[in-house]
Amino acid sequence: MTPKRIAPSILAADFANLQRDVEMINNSEADWFHIDIMDGVFVPNISFGMPVLRDIVKHATKTIDVHLMIVDPDRYIKTFADLGSNILTVHYEACTHLHRTLQAIKAAGMKAGVAINPHTNVALLEDVINDIDLVCIMSVNPGFGGQSFIENTYRKVEKLKNSILKNKANTLIEIDGGVTSKNAKQLIDAGADVLVAGSFVFKSENPTNTIKELKELIKI
Ligand code: DX5
Ligand code: ZN
Repeated sequence: MTPKRIAPSILAADFANLQRDVEMINNSEADWFHIDIMDGVFVPNISFGMPVLRDIVKHATKTIDVHLMIVDPDRYIKTFADLGSNILTVHYEACTHLHRTLQAIKAAGMKAGVAINPHTNVALLEDVINDIDLVCIMSVNPGFGGQSFIENTYRKVEKLKNSILKNKANTLIEIDGGVTSKNAKQLIDAGADVLVAGSFVFKSENPTNTIKELKELIKI
């Protein structure tokens, strides 16, 4: 069994106190930093870009999990590797030659992730599942934090988990969007390995305790 992980999403942090929030994650039980990069084209929102990631990496002491919500991500694979990303996730819907993109991410020394929108069938990944280190199942429509969780996600997780087992792949399943203490355990039971949590962590009174609480819930 792989350890179950919590990846707080920096999108919900206080950007005027970013170092404080990065240190909070460093000193918490969180496992990864989840970093959302949005281009205003693939999704109807713009988050932040390279200079901000560079400064996060300067202070972060945990795995840097970068989620690209951008068109034509191939253009920036080397840039994100140079910035210190450990995992680089591209959207299935943004890649014409997904297999090639995955190879390029790995050749640049990173783990390769693929994110799928709520309407995208997990079966579409079956032929490349052995090439994917992480599948990020979007449990909201990408672009914004603080949205509510789409219940159909559980079914997608189960289907994907079956496909991973059938193909003897080592792929991790990550869930992104609307994760709270209400759905965390059920997601892990369905087969998820990593839970991204933005608002639930950062909008809570004590983010460190909230992370601890989530970790406790997903213990196996
Ligand atoms: C949404 C982003 C998520 C977002 C999650 O497009 O990919 O990572 O930050 O935020 P919450 O947990 O608030 O739904
Ligand atoms: Zn994300």
